[in-house]
Amino acid sequence: MRISEAQIEQIRISADIVDVISSHVQLRKRGKNFIGLCPFHNEKTPSFTVSQDKQIFHCFGCHSGGNVFKFLMEYKKISFVESIQEMAAELGITLEYENQKSEAEQSETEILYDINTSVAKFFSDNLLKEEDGNIARKYFEERKIKPQTLRSFGLGYCPDHWDATINFLNKNNIDIEKSLQLGVIGKSDKGKLYDKFAGRMIFPIFSPNGRVIGFGGRIFDAREGAAKYLNSPESKIYHKGRTLYGLSHGKDEIRRHDLAIVVEGYMDLISLHQHGVKNVVAVSGTAFTDEQVQLLSRYTKNTVLLFDADTAGVKASMRSIEILLKQNMNIKIATLPKGEDPDSFVQKNGSDAFLDVISRAVNFLEYQTAIFEEQGYFNDAAKSAEAIRELVKPVALLNDELKRSFLLKSIAEKFGLREKLLEAELEKAIIAANKFPVQEQIQKEKVKLKKISEADDVKMPPAEFRNEQEIIILLFEENEQITRYLLDHVNPDEFQIAYHRILAHLVYDALINDEALRISTLLEKIEDEKLQEYLLEITFEKYLISDVWDQRKPENKEKRLLKYANDLIKFFKLYHLEKEIMQNHALVEKAEDEEEALRLMKNGHMLYARKKEIEKGNY
Ligand code: GTP
Ligand code: MN
Repeated sequence: MRISEAQIEQIRISADIVDVISSHVQLRKRGKNFIGLCPFHNEKTPSFTVSQDKQIFHCFGCHSGGNVFKFLMEYKKISFVESIQEMAAELGITLEYENQKSEAEQSETEILYDINTSVAKFFSDNLLKEEDGNIARKYFEERKIKPQTLRSFGLGYCPDHWDATINFLNKNNIDIEKSLQLGVIGKSDKGKLYDKFAGRMIFPIFSPNGRVIGFGGRIFDAREGAAKYLNSPESKIYHKGRTLYGLSHGKDEIRRHDLAIVVEGYMDLISLHQHGVKNVVAVSGTAFTDEQVQLLSRYTKNTVLLFDADTAGVKASMRSIEILLKQNMNIKIATLPKGEDPDSFVQKNGSDAFLDVISRAVNFLEYQTAIFEEQGYFNDAAKSAEAIRELVKPVALLNDELKRSFLLKSIAEKFGLREKLLEAELEKAIIAANKFPVQEQIQKEKVKLKKISEADDVKMPPAEFRNEQEIIILLFEENEQITRYLLDHVNPDEFQIAYHRILAHLVYDALINDEALRISTLLEKIEDEKLQEYLLEITFEKYLISDVWDQRKPENKEKRLLKYANDLIKFFKLYHLEKEIMQNHALVEKAEDEEEALRLMKNGHMLYARKKEIEKGNY
């Protein structure tokens, strides 16, 4: 017997922790919280605190704490499931163990997910079972896609009338307004509803944890004036720039191989899966976005790009290379014979031949050089100087000195140039790219520091420690905009304190999976009890930031939070930069020859310049 996650969430939302605890403990209001004598240990002055806003409790005396279910479990000595059943009974909610939920009981995004799930099922049924789907079944058969693959990717077909989806929605009492938001149907200027995907093969697009967030629809044959693929519009649950097609199906294999193969098309990815190559994502015909790279880098830092050899493909791969390099991903590029895409290639030659292509992937310099060569750049002196400058540019994006000098060396060798000449070019490119070199030694120091902090007793100056802590508190403020803003600027891995890193990752994961950012929900995902306590402790701390804000004008709250977030980010960045400056300084003292010292000093200058920028608020 399983209670669905959605229903637990529903109870969590409907229950009020103050009501529940009040019937067992006498509470009184203090500030925005409630306090009382702790039922879990003996005390004379109240240190048991309940937050109505956040729906959590915490005792500063005995360190017990958690959400409403945790209270019932501890107070009544019952299990988690029993606590849910008890709450449900209290609230008059009938626990259902299947998926039938009424709209009012669901959160807005849950409803949207459910609509997509139903519509995906409708499309899939059309393809697999209905008379209408004959044409699509034949099409996939011709493209050698097996029924098993159709099912595992949820592929479908939207019948070629203008109203098949609309009829389905109406028959199943599915909200039309919301379906319009999701873009499965459209509305003409005259107000007439119509099917958006009529006559198209459907590729559901999944979130990393496998929920349907949108659709891609392909027409059978390229028609005049009709896009080959039509994608769902951006919606509350679908953000194209934050989505990588295939991640949901391939993430385990990507982790296992510590490599992601990046292709362009839906069909490429699906076809590769069918041939057993599953560590693949598709960027759907455009260049990577920063957010997509961030997402992917959670699973691996190694990518092989496999883009079409046509001009658009080359352009997209160049832009992708830049974005990937900036985020320190390792990139190689593989090319297929002209006229082939991964789908056609693997169908023709099988997976061994395909993996052979992957294993022969080259670094981006070789790739770009080959393209310049092909375009005749090196037959002409002026043009070849331009090409070499272009080749140096991406090198400047690398953060790793060792990698940079290796690549520089290989360019020098390839073109018979003096390295010094290229170094001057690189210096220019670095300044242009507003990137600052980090010595290899500094990198090593960083690794050491990280190791120390792993031991959890890092000696951090109190102000810096406090700053990290405040960022964590703010991440759990349950304000999506602020959370997103913070995590756009602060990398969860950069926190010095191991606890902070874990907590930041927890919020980050919830964010990218479009899950609730509520602390009462997130608490349940923390296994380490000490860490739970820590989170509750800092959330309930006396000088809780939100307390300060609430005393001021509430309409200013957003603005103030944002300003506060900016201050925290600035402090965080400056702390890390100052450490880098100090380490660089130490290295200058230890430098073995003049050249080295000079280079380090130059590095020092750039770090200072960067510091000035951050102080001005440019980060
Ligand atoms: P097949 O032609 O069926 O093999 O599909 P494909 O996936 O190989 O398509 P193609 O190589 O032409 O395009 C690569 C990817 O770019 C597709 O999977 C789509 O994600 C995207 N794409 C291609 N054409 C369009 C279009 O007209 N509109 C949009 N939005 N995306 C497109
Ligand atoms: Mn194709």
